[in-house]
Amino acid sequence: MASAEPRSIICRSRDLTERGRGFRFAVLRCGEEAPAFVIRFNGVAHGYLNRCAHRSLELDWNEGDFFDAFGEHLLCATHGARYIPATGSCVGGPCVGTGLVKLPVTEENGVILLEPGDDLHLVGSKSVS
Ligand code: FES
Repeated sequence: MASAEPRSIICRSRDLTERGRGFRFAVLRCGEEAPAFVIRFNGVAHGYLNRCAHRSLELDWNEGDFFDAFGEHLLCATHGARYIPATGSCVGGPCVGTGLVKLPVTEENGVILLEPGDDLHLVGSKSVS
């Protein structure tokens, strides 16, 4: 059954380039504000909480820079954990076997959207039905 909650616009599609800089935003999750980001990998937008599975620190080494030098993995700047961009699974570093928290993100009509979820809301955004 479709949710009656509106979807929220995170950013424009053109804000995300293939394996390029990510777009940072914030969500309210279970009543707590948390940093998040979206990236584009193999043409698809993927969103995650910006929280390393190792120490709950933000991943980006410069604001919005999440990919390693080869564009193959998302990389945590602190201790080098590596994550598969399409799934968030950790495949290298101190938290292998765990992963990032994936967010329900879609792309439609030139925008990247956060789908409504259980106690998950975008902070400061426009809603669309
Ligand atoms: S905080 Fe990310 S690898 Fe340690």
